[in-house]
Amino acid sequence: MKPVRILFVCLGNICRSPLAEGILRHLSQGHAVDVDSAGTGGWHIGDLPDHRSIAVARRHGIDIAGQRGRKIEAADFTAFDLIFAMDRNNLATLRALAPPATQHKLHLFLGYTLGAERDVPDPYYGGPEGFDAVYSMLFEGCSSLIGRLEEIGS
Ligand code: 4NP
Repeated sequence: MKPVRILFVCLGNICRSPLAEGILRHLSQGHAVDVDSAGTGGWHIGDLPDHRSIAVARRHGIDIAGQRGRKIEAADFTAFDLIFAMDRNNLATLRALAPPATQHKLHLFLGYTLGAERDVPDPYYGGPEGFDAVYSMLFEGCSSLIGRLEEIGS
């Protein structure tokens, strides 16, 4: 089966989307899936994930320290099958950038995975507990997504 190509997108590509990428890759072992992440902003191109995202991932046995920040580019809209925005601002930015023929690939992450039209909140300016909450939301959503991969890929 062809891998399902999944892109996670947040604002900076250092907190939420790299964590989502690491979690899904971790959970996807044995499934045909390609995973990547990107930011709508370009401030952190080439940067490591935020140390608090690296730490919460590590506490759950997931290593995201090899990932580097990048900005969404036009080719992403054709290269990926599903593009998940972490929050409604990210989704609005993606909707403005994506060609009409690729709009169907864009989804709010928790809406698509859990049927909850809620944002994964930006934890950048908050305390470490924000990263625990983000991890839990991402883990729950990614677990649900994994259960639906066969249906999505067929
Ligand atoms: P993220 O969090 O979108 O989850 O990666 C942010 C990281 C950095 C910035 C904003 C949000 N920033 O403005 O630099």
